[in-house]
Amino acid sequence: MQNFTYQNPTRILFGQGRIADIGGQIPAGARVLITYGGGSVVKTGTLAEVKHALTGVTVFEFGGIEANPTYETLLQAVELARREKIDFLLAVGGGSVIDGTKFIAAAIPFAGDPWDILAKRAPITSAVPFGSVLTLPATGSEMNDGAVITKKATQDKLAFSNPRLFPQFSVLDPAKTLTLPPRQVANGVVDAFVHIVEQYLTYPVEARVQDRFAEGLLLTLIEEGPRALSEPDNLDVRANIMWTATLALNGLIGAGVPQDWSTHMLGHEITALHGVDHAQTLAIVLPAMLHVRREEKHAKLVQYAARVWGLHDGDENARIDAAIERTREFFESLSVPTRLSAYGIGADAIPALVAQLERHGMKRLGERRSLDLAASQRVYELAA
Ligand code: NZQ
Ligand code: ZN
Repeated sequence: MQNFTYQNPTRILFGQGRIADIGGQIPAGARVLITYGGGSVVKTGTLAEVKHALTGVTVFEFGGIEANPTYETLLQAVELARREKIDFLLAVGGGSVIDGTKFIAAAIPFAGDPWDILAKRAPITSAVPFGSVLTLPATGSEMNDGAVITKKATQDKLAFSNPRLFPQFSVLDPAKTLTLPPRQVANGVVDAFVHIVEQYLTYPVEARVQDRFAEGLLLTLIEEGPRALSEPDNLDVRANIMWTATLALNGLIGAGVPQDWSTHMLGHEITALHGVDHAQTLAIVLPAMLHVRREEKHAKLVQYAARVWGLHDGDENARIDAAIERTREFFESLSVPTRLSAYGIGADAIPALVAQLERHGMKRLGERRSLDLAASQRVYELAA
């Protein structure tokens, strides 16, 4: 196992009705800015429930944060927050709203052009504290310190992270996910699945507990993911998916092990240029990525085949082929297509995707930094 430092300061309020408890989580006298997305929380009544829980607190609102939140929109929230002397933020929504709120939190006290936080990795020395009410289990943003922001003007989708950007608290009420359209339910399962794979399917370092945690989370998604679609009212299923997605990317399974994240980097460029949902890009890239890098990932692929898909017999390479095929079939069974062509993107789009990677400095990706631009191109081609 590799050395690691692990600290996760986010308090989790899990279960039905927990929004009622957020009043006690917010500092007395705080001026709170509630942030939300395109309106689902207005329609579902979640925003009203949050405001009710904050009766007596000074509250402002900023709605309209898009899926794949943009710098351009978030800057408007930064201006509002500065003007109204906001000292606490409350994100109500999915990963996009929480990510956007992390950027707002960092940008409010930032001197200079806040885009430098992403483009130049400018150091963040302070951030406005914030909490979240999660409505879509997928990203893990509710219990991690990372965010992904898009600059519309230049089609850059870039990630950043900072320990000051862990939420102070997050409410995880599985009942709030019952209103999700099937596409977002499926997206959430795929995103969480690939988060686990990015931290698990690298090379062995004798990290037995991380491996077993990761395999347990993958098996839970394989068992419960299809049920969330076929039994849409089953709250136990939703609860298990919600907690799995959080544990998939709260630092626990990634501590002390090598991490890949190349599937995400190739996926981000597909979203930036073609607007495909984040999880859909991962479903496109992952099977191809595993094929292209099967030699460097051989030992872990054999372990994945056995422990996650129950493939124990025959030649190791045939087992790896079957495990990759099972992975593809799992995504397809959730109605998340796994080919670029299924989203109307032709092979002629690949050079521009590779050029974006180059422009963003993504020239040596993966746990061994072995994925150069030529290999990335092969991945896109195999995913065509
Ligand atoms: O915008 P509204 O109207 O709220 O609707 C949203 C949105 O259209 C809707 N929705 C959310 N909760 C709902 C609901 N509709 C009905 N009922 C509910 N309870 O779902 C749509 C998608 O929401 P979004 O927040 O965009 O989805 P997700 O949570 O998948 O977040 C995706 C973003 O997170 C980033 C992605 O790149 C993408 O920008 N990621 C963030 C990560 C992190 N911070 O650690 C890691 C991930 O790998 C990922 O990159
Ligand atoms: Zn993701």
